[in-house]
Amino acid sequence: MPLTLETLAENYVFESSPTRHDLGAFHVPFDDLMEGSNTEVRLRNGTMRREPTALIGTSGSGKSSVIAHVLGPLAEDLAPLVVPLAAVSSDVIESPDRLADHLLDMIRRIANSDARRFDSELETGTTTITRTQRGGVGFRWRWLSGDLAREVQRQVQIETRATLVDKTDVLTKALEAVAVQELQPVLVFDDTDRWLGNSGSEMVGRFFGEGLRWLLELPASLVVAVHPRYFELASRPEVMQYLDTQIEIPRLDKSSAIEAILSRRVETCAEINNPNLSQVLLPGASEAILNVYKMSHSVRRALHVCHTALHEAISDGAPMIGPRHIMAAANAG
Ligand SMILES: Nc1ncnc2c1ncn2[C@@H]1O[C@H](COP(=O)(O)OP(=O)(O)OP(=O)(O)O)[C@@H](O)[C@H]1O
Ligand SMILES: [Mg+2]
Repeated sequence: MPLTLETLAENYVFESSPTRHDLGAFHVPFDDLMEGSNTEVRLRNGTMRREPTALIGTSGSGKSSVIAHVLGPLAEDLAPLVVPLAAVSSDVIESPDRLADHLLDMIRRIANSDARRFDSELETGTTTITRTQRGGVGFRWRWLSGDLAREVQRQVQIETRATLVDKTDVLTKALEAVAVQELQPVLVFDDTDRWLGNSGSEMVGRFFGEGLRWLLELPASLVVAVHPRYFELASRPEVMQYLDTQIEIPRLDKSSAIEAILSRRVETCAEINNPNLSQVLLPGASEAILNVYKMSHSVRRALHVCHTALHEAISDGAPMIGPRHIMAAANAG
């Protein structure tokens, strides 16, 4: 199939905020994009060894993308649990007690929905394991199904007036039930700015202090997305006191890296293998995209500019995106 601007537009190839499910499919490992990057490999190895890990990068740099790739639902030997942060207010991190409630609630909901789904599938004879089910907590985690879901569901029944010690105990048992399946449970705190974005230094200090200290008591690996801006709210040693392994998202410095990311998008969204980008990008366009990226080291921003440039080129009646479309789109905001 020929690659045209219309194909790119129809297939939303430059969507800059994909779902978590799609993030994993779109990801090109930084370890392939940059020599000596040691990003995905280190995250996977650190997680397997239960090293508490910080993934540090500015907004749009690729933290969630790396997490979706390394800790997606198909991660081998790992049982990742991405703690949903979108729908909760910052008071969840006020104390380990509230964090414990949030984790219990999350595990209960996953186990409930999975056990129920498994039961109904057994009845209808459709127990094929689908790759993922879209949508927040309702993910069909490969590892949490059938008997294991029922076991975990049983573990997380707890009195409402339980103490933190009781809750820690219940969470420990639930995570151990997962570990018995030879899977390493991983608690992932991604998009922490949803909690910490508007909160002051006190909240940041609490989450990275007593919050993480408590989380480390649990039999699970821990991965936390860290925005460098937190270091302005609390000192770096304070933020990192419990996060021994610190992985910085690398900064891309070659237009070939940008092209690799765009090619993966075309392959996944438009289902064109080994696309020839020179059918849609004029010479100099990928360098112009790299320059946009370099302004904030945001792949999201680079994709957003590509998206705007694509639509400008189409409305111009141009057959390809040129550097001038990229520059105009970048200036448009
Ligand atoms: N290595 C990569 N390969 C392919 N796409 C990438 C890569 N890194 C980032 N992206 C894309 O860039 C966009 C932003 O990435 P992502 O959501 O991971 O950023 P983030 O660091 O988590 O930002 P935030 O701090 O705002 O949550 C997404 O559309 C993602 O698909
Ligand atoms: Mg993110």
